[in-house]
Amino acid sequence: MSAKADTLLLFGATGDLAQRMLLPSLCALHADGLLDPGLQITGTARADLSDAAFRNFARAAVEKYLPAQRRGSMADFLNRLHFVPLDVTQQDGFGALAKKIGRPADRLAIFLSTAPDLFEQTIAGLAAAALSEGARIGLEKPLGHDLASSREINDAVGRAFPEERIFRIDHYLGKETVQNLIALRFANLMFEPLWNAQHIDHVQITVAETVGLEGRVGFYDGAGALRDMVQNHMLQLLALVAMEPPTHFDANSVRDEKVKVLRALRPVGPGESVTGQYRGGAVKGQIVAGYDEELGRDSETETFVALKAHVDNWRWKGVPFYLRTGKRLPERVTEILVQFRAIPHSIFDGARTRANRLLIGIQPQENITLSLMAKVPGLDREGLSLREVPLKIAMTDAFSGKEKRIAYERLLLDLIEANQTLFVRRDEVEAQWTWIDGIRAQWHAEGLTPKPYNSGAWGPSAAIALTERDGVSWHE
Ligand code: BG6
Repeated sequence: MSAKADTLLLFGATGDLAQRMLLPSLCALHADGLLDPGLQITGTARADLSDAAFRNFARAAVEKYLPAQRRGSMADFLNRLHFVPLDVTQQDGFGALAKKIGRPADRLAIFLSTAPDLFEQTIAGLAAAALSEGARIGLEKPLGHDLASSREINDAVGRAFPEERIFRIDHYLGKETVQNLIALRFANLMFEPLWNAQHIDHVQITVAETVGLEGRVGFYDGAGALRDMVQNHMLQLLALVAMEPPTHFDANSVRDEKVKVLRALRPVGPGESVTGQYRGGAVKGQIVAGYDEELGRDSETETFVALKAHVDNWRWKGVPFYLRTGKRLPERVTEILVQFRAIPHSIFDGARTRANRLLIGIQPQENITLSLMAKVPGLDREGLSLREVPLKIAMTDAFSGKEKRIAYERLLLDLIEANQTLFVRRDEVEAQWTWIDGIRAQWHAEGLTPKPYNSGAWGPSAAIALTERDGVSWHE
């Protein structure tokens, strides 16, 4: 693929994502000397800002969201920034943009973090101004709200950019701990022989958040937890856990394996999903309002979803993948639990053994814990007793002194340097939507509506019943 970009063009440069993540990430990359000295960053948005005003905006964003010790020389970073006011619904503005950029587009990296309903017009404008020729484009989620709408967006992008120059973002793939999942599985010998239905009883994936709507009223109510979190982040985690070993750590090999998993997802059947919506309650000692109160009206949008998923292939035959995610849950935690099967025969009469578990903490704790059985020290006059003990690696201790990076640092750098491995390919997105659309159709057929749960609880009680029916408890 083409060389490193010398211009990064940010659409939605005054938006929330730019402020919280993109500008701080770029500043951190700059501070670490990871951006070529010549790289120029041009922001666009509807606001009528001068370069100087945009630099002030960027400075405020960096000061708010990037720790002081990571900022480096802010003045040099800010000097890279330029701004072109642009209303993407007015095609003639793109000519002025092209003129301001003034370079051949083949060293241009574009990042769209605007509302998705502006994607098509933006892409048409870029193409008309010859800014798509040779350029690569990064796209923020949501890419549609179902398979049909995601195809429409993908078709529109595909008319101006070939797939090898489209970088679909799932920011979970930019997280260090998510990438470490690939290292854990494929840089160690010991897990792979056990990583199958013969040895694994089930897998749990939890993405729990304590936040509520966070002012995203318009967007969230039209999306819900299934489309906002499961369609993308959780399915990517599932795919990384379940995929076959890729032959290389490169874009095609990894994505080829993930898409096979996504296509092997069995449609969720009746009784295999639970949805919920938070009511008022207390989260971490704070009294918080219910979803409908935050929204200002009644709604049937789910803020919690729990699913029992199956990957229909040889490796995972009969192994449930329990997924749950929700807002206003008791704590912020993203983790994957791999529950191994029990030993086939115990030689320790009367002593209880527990099956081994591997717990992979993605955030906020970045720990890998393998639960093993050990003998309790003693002379065993009453018989030997056993206890589960953790073999634990805290990644922050193992790699102390290593900077904790924002997921977007990795993704922006990969976009600038044209490495697609951690971006989502079209066939993956479409396999994800196919499965999600099936779930929504199932909800419709079942007449399923979200059950209320108190803020600060682990979702509605039906979510507990979903696993307990199978003799499984959620990890808490
Ligand atoms: C986003 C969702 O994609 O991910 C948000 O739209 C959610 O609703 C966020 O809060 C969670 O990301 P993280 O990195 O905080 O786990």
